[in-house]
Amino acid sequence: MGGVSDADFTRTLNKVRCATVRRGRRPLPQALRQRLRIMENLMLFDPETDAPVVPESLEFNRIHQGDCLELMRKISPGTIDLVFADPPFNIGYEYDEYHDQHADEDYINWSREWMEEVHRVLKPGGTFWLAIGDEYAAELKVDAEHKLGFHARSWVVWYYTFGVNCKRKFSRSHVHLFHFVKDESNFTFNAEDPRVRVPSARALVYADKRANPTGRLPDDTWILRPQDLPEGFQPADDTWYFARVAGTFKERQGFHGCQMPEQLLGRIIRVSSNAGDVVLDPFAGSGTTLAVAKKLGRKWLGCELSAEYVRSATERLEGVAEGAALDGPADPLASAPSTANGKKLGAVSAAPGEEKKNVQDEVAGSEEGEELGNTELLSSEVSRRASSVVSLTKRDVRDVIRDALVGAYFAAYDGSSVDWLLADPRLQERFHERCVEAGLIGGPADWNRELLRLRKTGGFPKRGELKKVHVTDEELDAYSFAAEISWRLTHEKYHGPSIDEIFCDPVKSAFFDRSARRLVQGVEPAPIRWAALRLRKASRELVNEVKRYHFVFAKRDFARFQKWRGFKPKRFSGQPGLYFLRDEEKKPLFVGHARNLGARLSGHLECAYFSDHVSQLSVIAGGDLPGEEYRAAFKEELVRRYHPQWNMPLVGLTNA
Ligand SMILES: C[S@@+](CC[C@H](N)C(=O)[O-])C[C@H]1O[C@@H](n2cnc3c(N)ncnc32)[C@H](O)[C@@H]1O
Repeated sequence: MGGVSDADFTRTLNKVRCATVRRGRRPLPQALRQRLRIMENLMLFDPETDAPVVPESLEFNRIHQGDCLELMRKISPGTIDLVFADPPFNIGYEYDEYHDQHADEDYINWSREWMEEVHRVLKPGGTFWLAIGDEYAAELKVDAEHKLGFHARSWVVWYYTFGVNCKRKFSRSHVHLFHFVKDESNFTFNAEDPRVRVPSARALVYADKRANPTGRLPDDTWILRPQDLPEGFQPADDTWYFARVAGTFKERQGFHGCQMPEQLLGRIIRVSSNAGDVVLDPFAGSGTTLAVAKKLGRKWLGCELSAEYVRSATERLEGVAEGAALDGPADPLASAPSTANGKKLGAVSAAPGEEKKNVQDEVAGSEEGEELGNTELLSSEVSRRASSVVSLTKRDVRDVIRDALVGAYFAAYDGSSVDWLLADPRLQERFHERCVEAGLIGGPADWNRELLRLRKTGGFPKRGELKKVHVTDEELDAYSFAAEISWRLTHEKYHGPSIDEIFCDPVKSAFFDRSARRLVQGVEPAPIRWAALRLRKASRELVNEVKRYHFVFAKRDFARFQKWRGFKPKRFSGQPGLYFLRDEEKKPLFVGHARNLGARLSGHLECAYFSDHVSQLSVIAGGDLPGEEYRAAFKEELVRRYHPQWNMPLVGLTNA
């Protein structure tokens, strides 16, 4: 490039590059690309006008559909903190759209190209984690380091079991996780994060008081199933356990065979990024990386070729709330240890739809026969006992789990009842953290359900007075409608779960909370969830009230309907009453009752959700509505008459 200034060189390259990208040609030759990379933080110029180009960038907190190579080119250089990539391994796996069988050279070249983009979009202190199979691990590691300029920090081996048995070679039970950084002396590594650290062997095995109470960093081999190495890796030992997301696990999204476990991504994201950082996954798949990033308060961004995966993963992401606990293997039984003498505690069939890689070498039958039946949660404490005690009955298992759950509840409960703990997202988070610490296998939904089951079956010890929940009738009146509508919407979305199930399952309760937020402003999720529980409780009494006043109700109805737009609620200020909302086609949407009809309808009129759907309304107000109980019962009678779309039929509520 003798005689050409850097600026000229950059300008020329950018012109070529812009034109190349525009024409959709293959990228520039390697040598030019390398030089271009060095210059990439310099200003780009439009080839036609020579004006500086401000590069467009991809929107955060979205999964973008398309080829990651093309999409990453749209990301401004130096804007991403952490990239986690789990690309196709080129082993003929069947994806929805991607064809996973290319000539070696093509695959390696393609990998180099997208890794080069990863390098470009990372911030100077950014980190790149690559998950890769045996077939191309060596080539990709050499390329990443020697051709692209990454620095390798760790070569982690994720060891999983439940792999497929092979006849003529050893069964595959690991994936390589390469930890690369862009700058070897400046990168994020949160070694002190307690959620990244594990207890030391000194503390756990020898109960040695000199052990560092904050534990230690995990090794670079991350093991998934402790029972395979009972002597080498004790279940609660200083090695990581992550169950692969098997077909039986509730964590499994069901639409993607290569879904990674959230706990695995949790460790990576926690150690290599901070809250508010941007996490990119160029091969989003089922959206695990992004779901975990969102839960952990990171900004996130994904690319995925398959439109169908994008749709399903986006739905998954919508159900994820920031701050929610990470999923474990949600089928609590799926990672059960065998006993020391090799006996199984129970048996279930192999997981359906387990992914099969390297198909020629595999024979049917996996090791999943070692999973248990499905009535208990198993803890690492249990498996520790399992490896040291000759036999362990199901009764023992239940006791250990109950003790662990009850302990986790009392460590988190802050004097609250089980119901309030389920209603309050903050207490939920604390309870789930304690469950993780207790070594309980499973996920938040399992722990919640089991806790509730224990409460309902009287298996719960009492420890002093519980705090009373102070929610006044006025407060309830102000947002019960939001509780009822959100309950109904969640009921529809998830095909009829009970209210208990909604609050036990973080995905469903997050949907409930989101719906409520659209309906009423400035109220925390806990009181609204509580209002739903109160509605359920009241429903039992409502049955009697409806029967008692039926003959009166039968003669009364809404009369004149008015247009929603232009409706003046002021004249109903301070008046109790009932109201009926209908849509454009006169389909019944909601029947509500309020202590102060004027205030309630003003709130509805200011709310976009109501204004988007409601077209007309009718009101029954005035002194001839004797009291609250009467109004509530009359409202239920009208719900039974009109079946509005947003009401929960509280009378006759069964199984809710
Ligand atoms: C191994 S899977 C990723 C699984 C993901 N880690 C999870 O937990 O669900 C690889 C994904 O990359 C997608 N893919 C393949 N080629 C791609 C490309 N060029 N751009 C974007 N996505 C691609 C596939 O459709 C597949 O969903």
